[in-house]
Amino acid sequence: MPTIQFAGQTIECPQGANLRTVLVRARLPLYHRVARAVHCRGRGTCGTCAVRIEGKISDPTSAENTRLALPPHNREAGLRLACQCTVLGDLKVIKYEGLFGQKDEIALP
Ligand code: FES
Repeated sequence: MPTIQFAGQTIECPQGANLRTVLVRARLPLYHRVARAVHCRGRGTCGTCAVRIEGKISDPTSAENTRLALPPHNREAGLRLACQCTVLGDLKVIKYEGLFGQKDEIALP
């Protein structure tokens, strides 16, 4: 069973689980500020679940590629949308500052 390190915690999830679902169900702080209540609920359109991921995950979806090409994101930042990621192995997840998690400063290692 893969492990996910995020926000100072380590949790387990089934292989093939959706990363956003795993983090939300574990009540880990994937979203910042108003995005905790207002987001697209995993459709890949709002961009507020952006994180940096180290480990094996699914390839980007077309929705993810589209959203990450739009401000305040940019493709070169190397972020992923947790809602579009399938867990394929142990992961380390990092959330950055900013409503969309798009800034350079780490919010949650
Ligand atoms: S929850 Fe909106 S893009 Fe992931």
